[in-house]
Amino acid sequence: MLARLWLRLGAFLGKTLLWLVGLGLLGWLLSTLWFAWQHSGPVSPDEQIPPGESAMTQGIIQTAVRIVDQHREGTRYLRDAHAKAHGCVKAEVSVLPDLDPALRQGVFAEPGKTWQAMMRLSNGNAYPQFDSIRDARGMAIKLLNVPGKQLLADQQARGEQDFVMFSHPNFFVSDVAEYAQNVSAQADGKQVMAFFPGVDPRSWQVRHLFIALATLAPPPVSPTQTTYFSVSPYKFGAANAKFRVAPDPLGCPAYVLPKQNQDLPNFLRSALNQQLSTDRVAACFVLQIQRQNPQKFMPIEDTSVEWKESDVPFETVAKVVIPAQDFDTPALNLACDNQSFNPWFGVEAHRPIGGINRLRKAVYEAVSDYRHSRNL
Ligand code: HEM
Repeated sequence: MLARLWLRLGAFLGKTLLWLVGLGLLGWLLSTLWFAWQHSGPVSPDEQIPPGESAMTQGIIQTAVRIVDQHREGTRYLRDAHAKAHGCVKAEVSVLPDLDPALRQGVFAEPGKTWQAMMRLSNGNAYPQFDSIRDARGMAIKLLNVPGKQLLADQQARGEQDFVMFSHPNFFVSDVAEYAQNVSAQADGKQVMAFFPGVDPRSWQVRHLFIALATLAPPPVSPTQTTYFSVSPYKFGAANAKFRVAPDPLGCPAYVLPKQNQDLPNFLRSALNQQLSTDRVAACFVLQIQRQNPQKFMPIEDTSVEWKESDVPFETVAKVVIPAQDFDTPALNLACDNQSFNPWFGVEAHRPIGGINRLRKAVYEAVSDYRHSRNL
């Protein structure tokens, strides 16, 4: 009697398990199909501004300013993001002499032209922490003496074109609404819960949590040895494009960086110093453009989506050289801190597009003004 009961129970549990496995597989299959359908082209080549977007921006500025206040070092107010610099260096950006005519847009219009530029290399965190801690790494390039009307009406005297990038191809949020929700949760110390805003599983952002974790990567051996991505899209003449700057060791004299002590808090600055100042060897990169094909899944309004290289490859438009130089002096470091980079410092041919870039327009200006006004 007892044995029969056990057998029945065993059969029941076995069947239940089979059902559960079957249902799990079906759920996985359906969600994979749903994801593939949701992430397939064509997409709009135009910006689509959701209602209420600009209203959220004010709240985000307040959070950013709160972070700047919390993280100030003594009397100095730092950036809300990418607070720690490894250095600001002089660079030269040279348009390829034989550039394909279709790629001759904006500051890349004249083949062979060399722009003088400034470059700031940074860690992503709002707090200047040890370089060995997992983080995004930033590169901001500012082309100087750029002719033509600047995008920001009150910045006409600048004559600049900035390229602001970090070391991961996609962002941990899609749009302004998600950024507002996520960042206010993070500012309250709820790092992981920021991706699970409610009990409804449809609001969970598991994919975005994985992007955030992947963005916080171990350090490169040197800031000159990693690739930096625009993440968000920009105009490229009449087209839309993302860009990236990748190391080009063959463009420069061969160089092997001596092993750095990664336990030192600022070893990325030391690595830069060793190459440029001590060993006096230039560092080389290529600046590359990936043009949008709206027939593919290359959206403008979702920065969490990496535009696949298998859909459209990156094309080199310019070479970037950081010549040997002495950049690590108190005066140059102070000037570096007082500098502002902003994706909106530039010309119409490279206008930032998409929600996250629209948000950055207000936030960079507000935070930059805030810290400059207090760092007199
Ligand atoms: C597309 C994704 C983004 C990338 C690639 C990016 C990259 C960077 C980099 C490299 C810097 C340092 C610039 C420098 O060296 O001075 C920076 C600064 C900054 N970022 Fe972003 N960022 C992104 C998105 C955002 C978003 C969504 C916000 C907030 C709305 C934001 C807010 C800021 C602020 C406030 C600064 C400091 C500005 C200053 O005080 O001068 N960023 N960002």
